Amino acid sequence: MTEQKKVRVGIIGLGPRAETLLASIFLMLEEHHLEVTAICDLRDDCIEKIQSIFDKHGVARPRAYHNYHEMLVADDVDAILAPTSWNSHLKIACDAMKAGKNVGIEVGGASSIEELWQLVHAAESTGVNCMMLENCCYGRNELMVLNMVRQGLFGELIYCEAGYEHGIGKELAEAYSKDGERCLHNIHRNGELYPTHGLGPIAKILNINRGNRFMTVSSHATKSRGFAIAMEQFAGKPGMVFNEGDIVTTVIHCANGENITLTHGVSLPRPYSRNCRVQGTKGIWLENAKSIYIDGISPRYEILDDAGNPYERFEWDAIDKFYDKYDHPIWAEYRDKQIGGHGGIDALALMAFFDAVRNNTPTPIDIYDCAAWMSITCLSEQSISLGGMPVPVPDFTNGKWVSPRKEVPSRWALNNVYPECFGK
Ligand SMILES: NC(=O)c1ccc[n+]([C@@H]2O[C@H](COP(=O)([O-])OP(=O)(O)OC[C@H]3O[C@@H](n4cnc5c(N)ncnc54)[C@H](O)[C@@H]3O)[C@@H](O)[C@H]2O)c1
Repeated sequence: MTEQKKVRVGIIGLGPRAETLLASIFLMLEEHHLEVTAICDLRDDCIEKIQSIFDKHGVARPRAYHNYHEMLVADDVDAILAPTSWNSHLKIACDAMKAGKNVGIEVGGASSIEELWQLVHAAESTGVNCMMLENCCYGRNELMVLNMVRQGLFGELIYCEAGYEHGIGKELAEAYSKDGERCLHNIHRNGELYPTHGLGPIAKILNINRGNRFMTVSSHATKSRGFAIAMEQFAGKPGMVFNEGDIVTTVIHCANGENITLTHGVSLPRPYSRNCRVQGTKGIWLENAKSIYIDGISPRYEILDDAGNPYERFEWDAIDKFYDKYDHPIWAEYRDKQIGGHGGIDALALMAFFDAVRNNTPTPIDIYDCAAWMSITCLSEQSISLGGMPVPVPDFTNGKWVSPRKEVPSRWALNNVYPECFGK
């Protein structure tokens, strides 16, 4: 067997997310032939912290940079990971592509449509990959539902829901004193600030940008209380004003007639949920209820009401019932050997990215996916400021969405499932 070529990685932005990505990378170094050759941050303390993690693992320290432009011209860097925050990663991604380096960016929404066009133009003019490392696209349930949808079990899709609902008031209040950018977005903006964890997998299931597309966005925000309470309670700062509504509800209408309702709510105390629902003419998945109903599989029978008239009753099946038969082949393979953060999905997204870099193939989440998913943030802000009026979503593909567009069959593909790529 020929030795696989090493992928030499440079990481720009060494905050907490870089640390969790690195934890997955350290577990993958040998099997996936990776080497981290360079790191970069504006701050010395972040560089030092990451260097000490290499020491702890007994791995040679990578070269450190303060200016990412210097890293982009290094000839021992094949691919860039850019887990900086929302105001910087798109510019870094454009510069990386222009320097000929494949780049993986983290999640988060866009601040303007203009920065997304810059991203699209950089990818189109260079032919270099930019992949959003949307780990939730590799979630076990999301992938199983994709698999079931492509096998026709849900019928024709009609309606979906997704979201990011999470109590992070304390986390945000504590980050405020450390100049955490996310807190500033919540102080100054009011919109669907974190769309992609829920929306990414749903967009793939709905074939967005491949025969379907987002047409309009309409958003409403509630009043804002949760963050102000958290700032008083956890940061000793009473009376702060946040623009971000506690719950932001967004409806996206798609060209093929489906609606998606997205919910963003991170300031009130509550357990975590991506709040997924996928519903078609034959079936429905409800993430929060851990339940699926599929016509022809799940219980559906007639009973009599109190007056003796027959009516139909439908019953849920627990989602666990479907894993044996319908788990996506990725999870059939990885469920017993999950590695790394967020139950293994961080590692799966990284494997998908590095596999595309090594084989010089398109990434499973491409630039049109990034632009469409991230645009929801700034479009929802516009809609809220217009009292919930629908605003149009640009067609970042410039018409290419009307065809299914060819996809390279791969185990990491997210538009279709290719069982033939597994078991080798
Ligand atoms: N996918 C997930 O599950 C997940 C989980 C957590 C965070 N994230 C995302 O990861 C990203 C980073 O999160 P974080 O909490 O580490 O953010 P952070 O703001 O705490 O850290 C970002 C780091 O990037 C550095 N940086 C910023 N601009 C830079 C530049 N021009 N050059 C070099 N370094 C620069 C900052 O100094 C900082 O150390 C965010 O987009 C966040 O939404 C994703």
